[in-house]
Amino acid sequence: MNISVNQERLSAELDTLATFSDAPAPAVTRVLWTARDLEARAYFQILCSEAGLSVRQDALGNIFARFEGTEPHLPAVATGSHTDAIPHSGRFDGCVGVLGGLEALRALKSAGFVPRRSLELIMFTSEEPTRFGLGCLGSRTMAGVLSPEKLRGLKDGDGIAFETARSAGGCSGELETVRLPEGCYHAFVELHIEQGPLLEKAGLPLGVVAAIAAPATLRLTIEGEGGHAGARLMPGRRDALLAGSELALAVEKAALSTGAIDTVGTTGFFQIHPGAVNSIPSRAQIEIDVRDIELERRDEVVGQIRAAWDEISERRGVSGALETLNADPPATCAESIVSASQNAAKALDLPFQKMVSRAYHDALFMARLCPTGMIFIPSKGGISHRPDEYSSPEEIKRGVEVLALSLAELAA
Ligand code: GLV
Ligand code: MN
Ligand code: MN
Repeated sequence: MNISVNQERLSAELDTLATFSDAPAPAVTRVLWTARDLEARAYFQILCSEAGLSVRQDALGNIFARFEGTEPHLPAVATGSHTDAIPHSGRFDGCVGVLGGLEALRALKSAGFVPRRSLELIMFTSEEPTRFGLGCLGSRTMAGVLSPEKLRGLKDGDGIAFETARSAGGCSGELETVRLPEGCYHAFVELHIEQGPLLEKAGLPLGVVAAIAAPATLRLTIEGEGGHAGARLMPGRRDALLAGSELALAVEKAALSTGAIDTVGTTGFFQIHPGAVNSIPSRAQIEIDVRDIELERRDEVVGQIRAAWDEISERRGVSGALETLNADPPATCAESIVSASQNAAKALDLPFQKMVSRAYHDALFMARLCPTGMIFIPSKGGISHRPDEYSSPEEIKRGVEVLALSLAELAA
């Protein structure tokens, strides 16, 4: 099949999507159910309707755009990603998979391709954990890993209840209806930027993902004792920041202790109260992210962090319980999807390598519902979650072509 991807149109749409941002360009900030997120969602739905796809939204705001096949009762072949963006990040993470997925469906349509199985493009709600502390809210709930009760119990950093935020975001209906049965899709393929340096280093336009690493997220509020920075002497202080700092160092030590390049540990959130130069920090809020492609090794690192915290908190006389927000198992990509993507790359004469995804994606949870795979394109300098995140229009176009042919094979 001769696929013609409209690179200019796709670039222009990515540019427009990037303008829906709470940070000045080139940075992008688009957090779940903020005004900017709602603008992005509306824009995406308009583009899908203009492309002749039928659009629906579930109770959690996951958006589905469907290209009907000749046998619509068969489980569909799905693709998609997210358009939410963490504070001060870039314009390609997730968006390439959503707008690139749309361009793939448009290219298939204009090539005259008629799928046997329907094709469905999904824009997942809140892949990023920014607002409610938990990533992949949409796909996690679709896969039944996150229950409606748990969702309803969530509060954001400003204390806004999940249900209040959801209705302000224009979503209604029972959260119980979001979960999908296993086998509801025949296949899922997500196109994404690599977010790492390997493809660029290897000079390759394409990665076919074989496995997705597993994240665990820990949250902790440390309660120490505040006071006057001058009048309060050093002995006997119970400084929450210092306790948290020791823990952050313990996270680094635990991640390094495995000796495996695939183990990573990050203390990415650290906020102190009251935050004044002449006041001892009485409280610290911390979030820790630990990942590995091997579940046991990842959990061993989490165990070391817990043991370190027991010792630090006891010695420093501060309190606080380490809460596990999520501890997800890694996913293996299905051979059938890997092979469809490899076939597509070969048909397009594009060299590729098989690789691991060290970032998590909605594909991690879709893998619980159906055979799943991912296609990576290069990220300049391996940079992501930063305003200077970049993949060229040509790189994106090639990824979309591979996606389109993969979808065509899986839906034929
Ligand atoms: C997703 O954005 C991740 O943090 O891997
Ligand atoms: Mn991301
Ligand atoms: Mn992403």
